[in-house]
Amino acid sequence: MSKLWGGRFSADGGQRAEEFTSSLSFDKRLYRQDIQGSEAHARMLARQGIISEEECALIIGGLRQCLSEIERGEFPFRQEFEDIHLNIEQRLTEIIGPAGRKLHTGRSRNDQVTLDMHLYIRSECQEVLLRLRSLQQALVDRAAEHLGVIMPGFTHFQHAQPVLFSHYLMAYFWMFQRDAERLAFCLNQVDRLPLGAAALAGTTYPLDPSSVARELGFTRLYDNSIDAVSDRDYLLEFLFSAAVMGMHMSRLAEELVVGSSREFSFYEMDDAFATGSSIMPQKKNPDVCELLRGKSGRLIGNLVSLLVVLKGLPLAYNSDMQEDKEAVFDSVDTVKACLSMLTGVISTMKLNPERMRESMYRDFCLATELADYLAQKGIAFRDAHHIAGRAVAFAVNKGVDIWELTLSELRAFSDVIDEDVYDCLNYEVAIQRRTTPGGTSRENVEQQIAKARALLEAK
Ligand code: ARG
Repeated sequence: MSKLWGGRFSADGGQRAEEFTSSLSFDKRLYRQDIQGSEAHARMLARQGIISEEECALIIGGLRQCLSEIERGEFPFRQEFEDIHLNIEQRLTEIIGPAGRKLHTGRSRNDQVTLDMHLYIRSECQEVLLRLRSLQQALVDRAAEHLGVIMPGFTHFQHAQPVLFSHYLMAYFWMFQRDAERLAFCLNQVDRLPLGAAALAGTTYPLDPSSVARELGFTRLYDNSIDAVSDRDYLLEFLFSAAVMGMHMSRLAEELVVGSSREFSFYEMDDAFATGSSIMPQKKNPDVCELLRGKSGRLIGNLVSLLVVLKGLPLAYNSDMQEDKEAVFDSVDTVKACLSMLTGVISTMKLNPERMRESMYRDFCLATELADYLAQKGIAFRDAHHIAGRAVAFAVNKGVDIWELTLSELRAFSDVIDEDVYDCLNYEVAIQRRTTPGGTSRENVEQQIAKARALLEAK
C-alpha cells in the first residue's frame, strides 16, 4: 500500500525504518482528539468555501464512522501508515472516497499533532485537578477530625517543637494547593490554537482559525506559525506540575512509611493499602506508600526527558518531537493513579495519638519554652538559650524531662525562674502560644481549615 506522503518516493521504505519511525502504538490514544480537530477543520473549510458542504458532510460522517470503529475495536490500525493521523485519514478515504483526500487542505500533521496534544492535555489537566481536589479534601477532613492531637514537629528529622497533627497535615494541603495553581497556569498556557500554521509558514488558503478556536474552546491563536508548530512548553508545564506533585506525594509517602514503622507507630495503614510478605507471616508492608515515593522518579524523569529532547532542536517541527508523547502519557497515567491512591491512604489510615504523645517524653522539645520564659523575664534571648541548654544537659544526666526538674534544680540555672515556669513547660501551652500567622495554635489551625474549605468550595 502506498504512503499518503509517497509521491516523491520511488519505493516503499524498509520495514525496519517503518517500525522505528511509527508512533501508532502509542499515539492511538489521541484518536478522539484527532477526530474532534479534523471535524472542526472540515467545518471551517466548508464555511470558507474551500470544500463543498456535501464534501464536508461526507467527511464528518466518515470521521464518525472511524470513531465508532475504533471504539468497537474494529478499526484497521496499520503501522505502515505511521501514526494515528494518517491511519484515520487513510481509513476516512476508504470509507467515503475521494472527498477524504480534501480533509488535509490547509493543514499539516505538524499543526495537527500539536492541536491533538493541546486538546488531550487540556482535558487531562482538568481530570488531574479533580483528583488533586479529592486529595486536598481528604487532608482537610482528617485535619478537622483530629484537631487537638499533638505530635512532635521535626527539623533535621529530630524532635523540634510540639505541633498539632492537623497543622502538620495541613502543610501538605498548601503544597497541593500550589500544585492546583500550577495546573491552572498550565491550562492557561494550553489555551492557544495552533491550527493555521500548517507545516510552519501558514498557508495560502483563506482559513479562519479563529472560528475553529471558538468551536474547540480556545480563546487565543498563536501569534507566530513557526512557534505554533515548535512549541511544546505547554507539555513541559504539565510535566513540571506532575513532577512537583509527585515530589510532594513522595515526601508525604516517606513520612507515612517511616511513621508506620514499629519504631514510630504513629500511623497504621488500612489493610487495603498494605500488603504482606511472601515469607514473613507477620509483615504488613506499606507498599502503596513506597510506590508513591518510587513513582515520583518517573514523573521527574519524564520532565527531564522532554527537556532534553527539545534542548538544541532547531525550529520548526522535527521528528524528535514525536518523543513528547510517551513521556506525557506516562506522567498523566502515573500522576492520576498516585493522586487516587494517596487519597485512599489518607482517608483510611489510623492515627495513634497516645504514641505520638509518648514519643515526646524526654525529647526536650519544650526547651524553647524555657528559653522564651527566661527571655520574657528580661534575659537576652541568646543568654536564655544558653541557660535552657544547661538545664537540658542537667535533665539528660538525671534521666528526666525538663518539666520534671524541681524548682530549686531549675533556679540553680537562673534565679528569675519561679513557680510559674511550669505553666510554660507544657505541650498544650506551647502550642496555644504559637499564634503568629500560620502558626500551630488551635485557633490558627481552625482558620487554616476554614480557608482551605472555602478554597475547595470555590473551586
Ligand atoms: N507522529 C508525529 C508526531 O507525533 C506527527 C507529526 C509528524 N509530522 C511530520 N512531518 N512527520 O510528532
